[in-house]
Amino acid sequence: MKKALTIALAAALASGGMMAQAYEQGDWVLRAGATTVDPDTDSDDINLPMDVVAKADVDDDTQLGIIPMYMVTDKFGVELLAATPFEHDIAADVQGANLSVDAGSTKHLPPTLSVQWYPRGGQDGWQPYIGIGVNYTVFFDEDVDNELVDTLGALTDGLVDGADLDLDDSFGLAGQVGVDIPFSDRWSVNVGVWYIDIDTEAEITAKAAGEQVAKVKFDVDIDPWVYNIGIAYRF
Ligand code: NI
Repeated sequence: MKKALTIALAAALASGGMMAQAYEQGDWVLRAGATTVDPDTDSDDINLPMDVVAKADVDDDTQLGIIPMYMVTDKFGVELLAATPFEHDIAADVQGANLSVDAGSTKHLPPTLSVQWYPRGGQDGWQPYIGIGVNYTVFFDEDVDNELVDTLGALTDGLVDGADLDLDDSFGLAGQVGVDIPFSDRWSVNVGVWYIDIDTEAEITAKAAGEQVAKVKFDVDIDPWVYNIGIAYRF
């Protein structure tokens, strides 16, 4: 996929955006590509037993982005960012110690609806755009890692032998920039970047023999940069 994209990008750049590809009112553009969600995580303190304090860290993931856009006028479009579910590992970084515990993982879908401005709408060649939108992120399949359960067990003299993780859904704003670089009448290479405000409240429930013994809640700002590199087709 990377090689094909490199060839398409080279072709697009070689053609210098001379291709006739004006975006006009009523056009649909379907973008698809490798979409990476790269969190810029900022977590509240996670207060664990024995006065141990940790902070959450969330790693990145890349999935297939499917991104339809409709030109409402020659200069304004509406775009939906959709993708196959992202899966992120979550670590608990213990403060004051060089120790990171695998805490768990979550899947999520971050559909984002944006209004976009195309300054070169109605003209041939490169189609840069900027957009602003709203994001709704649904977290699901949250899993706790055994390493966190073992750590909680060690901190409680073996009392805690299980845990659950729950992440609240998030509603927030998103901003984006991108460009379609045409390499034929209908095909372009697309590069797009979003910054999405995704804030969630996380809850870890510690259990002993299946019964809840403690609950910790903490806010996590995931606030990812999202990158898409792919192709776009106008029809
Ligand atoms: Ni935020």
